Amino acid sequence: MHLLLGWGGIGAADLRTEPYMTQQSSYDVLVIGAGIAGLSAALRLADKGRVAVLAKGPLTEGSSLYAQGGIAAVLDSGDSVAAHVQDTLTAGAGLCNEEAVRFTVERGPACIQWLIDLGVPFTKEPQAENDAEYHLTREGGHSHRRIIHAADATGRASATTLERHVRSHPDIDVLENHIAVDLITSSKLQLSGPRCLGAYVLDRESGRVKVIRARTTILATGGASKVYLYTSNPDVSTGDGVAMAWRAGCRVANMEFIQFHPTCLYHPEAKSFLVSEAVRGEGGILMLPDGDRFMLRFDQRAELAPRDIVARAIDYEMKRLGLDCVRLDISHKSADFVKHRFPTIYDRCLEFGYDMTREALPVVPAAHYSCGGVVTDLSGKTDLDGLYAIGETTNTGLHGANRLASNSILECLVFAASASENIADELADREPPPELPEWDESWVTDSDEEVVVSHNWDERRRAMWDYVGMVRTDKRLERAKRRVDVLRSEIHDYYANFRLTNDLIELRNLALVADLIIRSAMERKESRGLHYTLDYPEPRDPASDTVLTPPA
Ligand code: FAD
Ligand code: SIN
Repeated sequence: MHLLLGWGGIGAADLRTEPYMTQQSSYDVLVIGAGIAGLSAALRLADKGRVAVLAKGPLTEGSSLYAQGGIAAVLDSGDSVAAHVQDTLTAGAGLCNEEAVRFTVERGPACIQWLIDLGVPFTKEPQAENDAEYHLTREGGHSHRRIIHAADATGRASATTLERHVRSHPDIDVLENHIAVDLITSSKLQLSGPRCLGAYVLDRESGRVKVIRARTTILATGGASKVYLYTSNPDVSTGDGVAMAWRAGCRVANMEFIQFHPTCLYHPEAKSFLVSEAVRGEGGILMLPDGDRFMLRFDQRAELAPRDIVARAIDYEMKRLGLDCVRLDISHKSADFVKHRFPTIYDRCLEFGYDMTREALPVVPAAHYSCGGVVTDLSGKTDLDGLYAIGETTNTGLHGANRLASNSILECLVFAASASENIADELADREPPPELPEWDESWVTDSDEEVVVSHNWDERRRAMWDYVGMVRTDKRLERAKRRVDVLRSEIHDYYANFRLTNDLIELRNLALVADLIIRSAMERKESRGLHYTLDYPEPRDPASDTVLTPPA
């Protein structure tokens, strides 16, 4: 038996323990993931020790880069922490942890100030009289204008500013094109613990698997929406953090709550392009092809109802009328306003032949955000000593059964800060890990059947879309479970026999995460928030989290 299998969940006895004579790197902190969560943590910790940041591809490629709408925080004197907390709890449909919500909302303004101090160019009020007057937009479920933004490219403005600081920091090593394969834990090596000791990491350029040891490891790998065929997310969102944490023995929670964004551009070449909720926030109207403003029939908040309601209403109308898409219209606003407020969306739509200042845009819902994830406390600690998790990969208790728009970057920032404080406090007391066994590839060969990976990938994502989408039933979930079981066993064989590639690592993680989503959905015998099932259409008391625990 070789290490690939051993690390895939068999026993420590399977591991080859004599170290090879290759170099291992060692850091105080290993940050796996370079979105807003990972880059913020890296930057906050860099003065406390040596930090490595991994990204699967180019440094900032991830959901953070594409975030449009903005960041929710209490920044206006007419707004209040209580109101933001209440809006978050309402969206979360009885499953938010109120302590986590209050913790996040209270720390929001300081985190925004931190970004401003780093140089993020947030949009100012048109007639701003002083430097601190930022424009705040409105999004669904918010009772107040409280979304600070950098035009319609808030993620890019924030991520690239963080990138600039991270790249120029002497104590941060940036490892791009490096994908973490699995966490290294003391229990699998029969060392004292249990504790996280670092990670095995595939250097995609050399094809070598490296050992990176760390006193503390942070998972900041983003979401898992690539598990679905249609998604607003970039390719890196394959749930790697959830899968790695699960294999390392950590609990995951509320995986069934996948948020579908109501309005992605419908065009064969517009892969994953989102039309921000802020377009509806600034007056955009949803219509059927005949101009009927259908949202008023579903919710009195119409286009600004929470996302699950809007997405399900669109899905309902599309199925009822056999439509490929619905329309989103903001052409009643002045062309100057639209171009100034939504320059990225305007330009991109124009590339696809749509002028949003003159016509309605064709839009469809798509998988957008994973509300559940690795269970953490308020400092980002997971169940495994030495392992923290932050950002979309987590379940902190903030989102409950449905995330409030623009609360996720807020969560990335707040938990990056709290995890960093905690890690900095503990760093001096943490022993550096010992030399660790190298990855053993002596049993594997290069695959001559890459098509198996791509075929499995497509099949998995289509089955999730068809059977575990916005409207679920027991029967659909059972169908999905049968398919994922077969796929997982095929992937397991494939994984055991062939040399690692980026696609294979991601496929293995996607299959595991799909399984966790389906199992969580099967456990929830009610409809709540983003989980809607025709078999149990009502919520049931008391509300409770779906917590899955890995086998010992
Ligand atoms: P990401 O930004 O997704 O970064 C993940 C990182 O992990 C990447 O660097 C990736 O390479 C790395 N990674 C993953 N797996 C591995 C691995 N195995 N090894 C090494 N590295 C790995 N939220 C808001 O609050 N406001 C918005 O306006 C908003 N708009 C959005 C618009 C779009 C189109 C999308 C897709 C999302 C939007 N969201 C928004 C959600 C928000 O952007 C994300 O939840 C948030 O940015 C996630 O940040 P993150 O740092 O957790 O992960
Ligand atoms: C958007 O701009 O519509 C996305 C906001 C979010 O996902 O929070």
